[in-house]
Amino acid sequence: MPELRLENVSYRYKNADRLAVNDVTCSFRGGQVYAVVGPSGSGKTTLLSLMAGLDKPSAGRVLFDGEDLATMDLDRYRREKVSMIFQAFHLFPLLTVLENVCFPMELNGVPEEDARVRARELLAAVGIEEEKHGRFPANLSGGEQQRVAIARALASGARVLLADEPTGNLDVANGQRVIEILSRLAHEEGYCVVVVTHNLAIADAADKVWRMTDGTLREVETA
Ligand SMILES: Nc1ncnc2c1ncn2[C@@H]1O[C@H](COP(=O)(O)OP(=O)(O)OP(=O)(O)O)[C@@H](O)[C@H]1O
Ligand SMILES: [Mg+2]
Repeated sequence: MPELRLENVSYRYKNADRLAVNDVTCSFRGGQVYAVVGPSGSGKTTLLSLMAGLDKPSAGRVLFDGEDLATMDLDRYRREKVSMIFQAFHLFPLLTVLENVCFPMELNGVPEEDARVRARELLAAVGIEEEKHGRFPANLSGGEQQRVAIARALASGARVLLADEPTGNLDVANGQRVIEILSRLAHEEGYCVVVVTHNLAIADAADKVWRMTDGTLREVETA
């Protein structure tokens, strides 16, 4: 099962006077759901970007299965090993819903017809009806776009899922559906799931909760 480890990781944005991430050491393992909570501006999104290889630590290292990201082919890492679900969904506006979900599979060389079949399954799993598969993202509600983004993140087959507020735009029922999907992927299929969230239901469902405060990360004791 995959493991992401951060060792004394710090990050400072250009021209910023303080660290957005401050000396964080922790491990995230397959088979577990981790919730990262904390106030706005505390560094949660920055932490996920470092784990996704989208930013490079100013100090410290990020290891995937023991290998330092600094020495890895990062394009490949992002294509095959991690999937990020963004706070803003980042769907491709000129691709239909179905094409958006097929896209990561096509990058990984999955034949078009197989990709379509799998994409339909994933969209069904997040509750997007068939009639919406041909629409462009702009013609969906915020919550529907978020669910398409989740289906797309699952399509790559990457075993580490990094989700930034994935239920932020969802009603309770659809939020619950997302929590169930993420928990099942972790507990039954060995995915490593890291969810930044303000949603207490996710924090409750998580195996471990970490709290970010001013760039530092501490484990919260759960009952
Ligand atoms: N591109 C940037 N340039 C400079 N500073 C930034 C940049 N992006 C974020 N920051 C700063 O880094 C700190 C951490 O930001 P980050 O986006 O990681 O917070 P967050 O915990 O995800 O907040 P939220 O809950 O509001 O999404 C904040 O002080 C923010 O202002
Ligand atoms: Mg954020």
